[in-house]
Amino acid sequence: MNQPESLVTLQASVHAPAHVKHIALLAWVREMASLTQPAAIHWCDGSEAEYNALCAELVNAGTFKRLNDAKRPNSYLAWSDPSDVARVEDRTYICSEHKDDAGLTNNWMAPAEMRATLTPLFTGSMRGRTMYVVPFSMGPLGSPIAHIGVELSDSPYVAVNMKIMTRMGKGALDVLGETGEFVPCVHTVGAPLVNGAKDVSWPCNKTKYIVHYPETREIWSYGSGYGGNALLGKKCFALRIASTMGKRDGWLAEHMLILGVTNPQGKKYHVAAAFPSACGKTNFAMLIPPKGFEGWSVTTIGDDIAWIKPGADGRLYAINPEAGYFGVAPGTNDQSNFNCMASLKGDAIFTNVALTDDGDVWWEGMTKEPPAHLIDWQGKDWTPAIAKETGAKAAHPNARFTVAATNNPALDAAWDDPKGVAIDAFIFGGRRSTTVPLVTEARNWEEGVYMAATMGSETTAAAAGQQGIVRRDPFAMLPFMGYNMSDYFAHWLALGEKLAKSGATLPKIYTVNWFRKDADGKFVWPGFGDNMRVMAWMLERIEGKQGGTEHALGTSPTYADINWNGSTFSEAQFQSVVSNDRDAWNAELKLHDELFAQLAHRLPAQLGATKATIEARLNR
Ligand code: OXD
Ligand code: MN
Repeated sequence: MNQPESLVTLQASVHAPAHVKHIALLAWVREMASLTQPAAIHWCDGSEAEYNALCAELVNAGTFKRLNDAKRPNSYLAWSDPSDVARVEDRTYICSEHKDDAGLTNNWMAPAEMRATLTPLFTGSMRGRTMYVVPFSMGPLGSPIAHIGVELSDSPYVAVNMKIMTRMGKGALDVLGETGEFVPCVHTVGAPLVNGAKDVSWPCNKTKYIVHYPETREIWSYGSGYGGNALLGKKCFALRIASTMGKRDGWLAEHMLILGVTNPQGKKYHVAAAFPSACGKTNFAMLIPPKGFEGWSVTTIGDDIAWIKPGADGRLYAINPEAGYFGVAPGTNDQSNFNCMASLKGDAIFTNVALTDDGDVWWEGMTKEPPAHLIDWQGKDWTPAIAKETGAKAAHPNARFTVAATNNPALDAAWDDPKGVAIDAFIFGGRRSTTVPLVTEARNWEEGVYMAATMGSETTAAAAGQQGIVRRDPFAMLPFMGYNMSDYFAHWLALGEKLAKSGATLPKIYTVNWFRKDADGKFVWPGFGDNMRVMAWMLERIEGKQGGTEHALGTSPTYADINWNGSTFSEAQFQSVVSNDRDAWNAELKLHDELFAQLAHRLPAQLGATKATIEARLNR
C-alpha cells in the first residue's frame, strides 16, 4: 500500500490539517463521520482565536449570552434545556464483557447489546451539525502520568468547555504523534437538523445514554449536552475509564482534589481528598487559612480528580488531569471561597445561573442580599418576592461555572508539573448530619481503606434524583467507578501492601465530616477556612508532633490538640462534632453490612475482618 497516498486520502476525507498523521485516528474519525453524518468537520486546534470564534457562534445561535464586559470580561452565560441539568446516573452504563466486572453498583449491558442499541441512535445523529474533533490531554502535556483522549462532538458548547477543562488542541495531537494511544470518545446531543429544521438554543434528546466499554476503552454519550454527561474527559474518561486503566497498570484514578499546604517553617505537604459531588471540594481545594494561621499557605493543584501513580521511590505521585474547574456555583461567595470568586472575575462560562439587569451573573448565596430583579436560569423574571411566593430558584442548584485553573490566584506552582506531587495524606469526607465525627485518623492503610469503602453521604443536586438521602458512596466513587467496586477495594489494599513491602511510608488516611448538625438542624462546624485547623492537626500528626485520643474507629484530636488561634469555637461545640455515639455507630455498621452483602461476591476478606475488629472495639 502506498502509505503517504492513503494518509493524504484519509486526511482529505475528514478535512484534517496536514500535521495530523495518525492513521488510526484519521480512520476512526472517518468511520464516525460516516455513522453520524455531520454537515461539516472541524478539527479543534485549541487556540484563543478558535475559542473566541466558537463563542461568537454560540452567541449567534442563542446558546450563549455574552456578559457585560465591564462587569465580567470575556464571559458567557448558557441556559440549558430544563430537562438537561445534571449527570444522569441511571442512564450511565459500564458495558464490560462480563457483568461481574462492572459489579452491582453499576448499570450494565452486554457490549453487543449496547452497540445494537446505540448504532441506530448514532446513525445520522449529527446531520445538519458540525462534528468537532477535540483532541485533549488529561494531565500535563507529555507527563508519564497523563493520557490522551479525542472527543468527537456535535456541540460547540462542549468544544469550548473542553478548551478550558483540558489541554486541548494541537499540543495534545503533537503528543499523540503518528501512533500514540488515545481513548476515543463520541458525543452527540442527539438532535439532528434535518430538512432545514431550525435549531434550538440547547439541543438535547429525552433519551440519554452515557456508555463506557472498559475493555476497548471507548466512551459513547448520547442525548445530553451537560457537564459530566458531555465533557467526556472528566467523569467518563478521567474516572470511569481511567479507573480500569489504573487497575490494570497499578495506579489510581480518584475523585479527589489535590492541594499543597506549606507550614510556617516552609515545609510543604500534599494532600488528596475525596468528597462526593457538591460537598465543598472546590472550596477545600482553594481554602484560605483563617485568622491565627499566619504563615500557613494552601495552594491548589486540582479540585475534582487525581491520577496517582507510584514513583520509583515508592511514594505516590499525583497530577490533576484537568486544566480547569467545572464547579457548582450556588453557595460560592467571597466568604465561602474567595479564591474561586477571584478566578471567576473574567474568562468564564456560566451555565444555569441567573442574569442580572446589568448583564452580569448571580446565584443563590453569591451575596447576602439578592438583586431586586433577575432573569432566572429558565429565562423568567425573578424577584425576591416571586421566590418567596413560589420557591423559584434564580440559579439551578447544580448551576456551574467553567474556568481555567490559571485564573486561580492560589494555583500551586507545581500544578502543571509532569512529575506530579508526592501525596502525604488522603482524606475521605461525606456529608453526614449525624454519627460521623469531624476527623478520624485510621490506624493503618487497611483500616483507612475500610473507612473509605464504607463512607456514606447525603445526596446532592449534582446528580438527577432525590436529594438528602444517605447513600453509601465508597471512596466518593459510587457514580464514577469503571469496574467492580469490590475489585477496586482489593486494588487499594494490594497497592498499599506492595508499597509497604517496598519499604515506603504510606500516606496517612483520614476521614472527615464538616456537616454535623445540631438539634435545630444547623451546621455546628464553621467549615471553609476553619477546615485548616483540622488539616494542620493531620499534618502535625504526620510529623509525630500532635496528640489525639484513640477510639474504636481510630484517633481523633482532643480540644487541646487543635490550634484555636482566632476562633471562638467552644469545647462543648467541639465535643458535639467529635463525639462517637455507640448506638449510632452500631446502626451505621449494620449499613456497612448491607453494603458488604451487596458487594459480597468479590469482597476482599480484609474488609470483613477489619469490620469485626472495629465492632469488637466499639462494644467492649
Ligand atoms: C462534578 C461531580 O461535576 O462530581 O464534579 O458531579
Ligand atoms: Mn466531582
